[in-house]
Amino acid sequence: MTPLHRQPRFVALTALGEQEAETTLAERFAQDPERFARFSVAFGEHMRVDMSRQAWSAEVQAQLCALAHDMKLGEGIERLFGDNCLNHTEGRAVLHTALRMPANAVVVHQGENVVPAVQAELERIQGFCERVHSGVWRGYTGQTITDVVNIGIGGSDLGPAMVTEALLPYQDKGIRAHFVSNMDGAQLGAVLSNLNPARTLFVVSSKTFTTDETMTNAQAAKAWLLAASSDDAAVARHFVAVSTNLEAVRSFGIDEASMFRFWDWVGGRFSLWAAIGLPIALAVGFERFEQLLAGAHAMDKHLCDTPFEQNIPVLLALLSIWNINVLGLKSEGVFPYSQQLKRFPAFLQQLNMESNGKGVNNAGEPVEHATGPLVWGEVGTNGQHAFFQLLHQGSVVVPAEFIGFVRSAYPYPEHLRKLLANMLAQAQAMAFGKSREQIEQELAAEGLSNDAIAHLAPYKVMPGNRPSTVILCDELTPYNLGALIAMYEHKTFVQGWLWNINSFDQWGVELGKKLAARLIDDLATGTTSGHDSATNGLLAQIKAWS
Ligand code: F6P
Repeated sequence: MTPLHRQPRFVALTALGEQEAETTLAERFAQDPERFARFSVAFGEHMRVDMSRQAWSAEVQAQLCALAHDMKLGEGIERLFGDNCLNHTEGRAVLHTALRMPANAVVVHQGENVVPAVQAELERIQGFCERVHSGVWRGYTGQTITDVVNIGIGGSDLGPAMVTEALLPYQDKGIRAHFVSNMDGAQLGAVLSNLNPARTLFVVSSKTFTTDETMTNAQAAKAWLLAASSDDAAVARHFVAVSTNLEAVRSFGIDEASMFRFWDWVGGRFSLWAAIGLPIALAVGFERFEQLLAGAHAMDKHLCDTPFEQNIPVLLALLSIWNINVLGLKSEGVFPYSQQLKRFPAFLQQLNMESNGKGVNNAGEPVEHATGPLVWGEVGTNGQHAFFQLLHQGSVVVPAEFIGFVRSAYPYPEHLRKLLANMLAQAQAMAFGKSREQIEQELAAEGLSNDAIAHLAPYKVMPGNRPSTVILCDELTPYNLGALIAMYEHKTFVQGWLWNINSFDQWGVELGKKLAARLIDDLATGTTSGHDSATNGLLAQIKAWS
């Protein structure tokens, strides 16, 4: 495929970019009273995505959609839902969308329909959840389970942790969920210090079941349990595994019957829909987990069935190509105005940056244009009192995505009103700012002298013209959350397709793991040589202070 930057349509878009830069967002809105209607798209009855405050025009949108057609995005979407080898560097198919298909769907992989196996595993998850919730599954003292600790990292942590927290109001099964990921005993220690081993269930989640952080935490958790029960048989009552690696699960000491499996065609960061979502189902109930899947499936259908001009994930991806590759804005801020989505930016970082942080294309050649952006964020309104200063007046322009919900599960209507008002206000301030003239008038009205006004005004000018998108949902339900996550999955996929990179491998994380393995030995033996001088020096300092 001709690379993005050499596509004739992209070259034309670059020229258009220079022209478009001459029009501010304020001017765009002044020229077109229908701008909101023109650039906001509804997803069913629950979500509306407003892209009107992006620095684009109908002409830009049309050209971007045409570019997507030129680059055969339709074929790409078809491949995502069919038997494919999109993850060619790992020799794997990419079929996470099969995890949320209805039971009667057919997804053929290597000559076999994978949907029945997916459904069978979902039934096992359902059965297990029911046993835990009803108290049939008990710990080694015969007491019921009150706490579930998920031990996993990356895709085996961020998805379930984010969703479980997001669905806190739905946690009515008498199970508290905890997440341990870090190779820092402080996290495990803090979680275990509040738990009773007799009533705690560990879910060891790891696609490979070799990840050092997870194995180290799981072994420590096992030792903690056995220190309390001193009977090896307790492990079977308190440990289950989620993995694709049966042998490694067995050798950890977890029985096959207590293992929930998934498949190598599910990438780690796309795995919350599979058994990796077990802690979600334990915390909120299997029916809610099914609603999450249903929301994601609805977004899958939207991706497949909607013309690009109205296709939300496609438009979001095209906008990001426009911002990154044409306008040179290489960072994306995501700001959920929802405390329940506290972990969403971290989840999105793995989803997008591990997928699209690539410098080599699908032909093995260096990519000659920018790819994955720096994705970061924080919940509103906390971010407003921390780093939004830079968004409004800094020298770096960061396109923002605001996510808000109209109804809340919590009985604080005033909070909700103020929260939503703040979100709308930030998008407004970013887009329209405040001119020097307005500032001077305000300061004069406050009675400041001309000298004081001249001194202060330049600092108070808000340049505006900073792009943002608002994603508004009626409520943070499991269904809407599933759709929201799938929307970002597909945005990531479409970006990767247009950049012609493999969004499904992650070779860049390997070197650090290998280097750490050797350094772990060096720290154990007190070796302070054999590396570069900086590492040797730090090893010596660590040894001195240990
Ligand atoms: O090191 C990166 C990574 O491979 C992620 O892609 C993955 O989600 C995470 O580690 C955890 O891997 P596993 O589920 O195999 O423990």
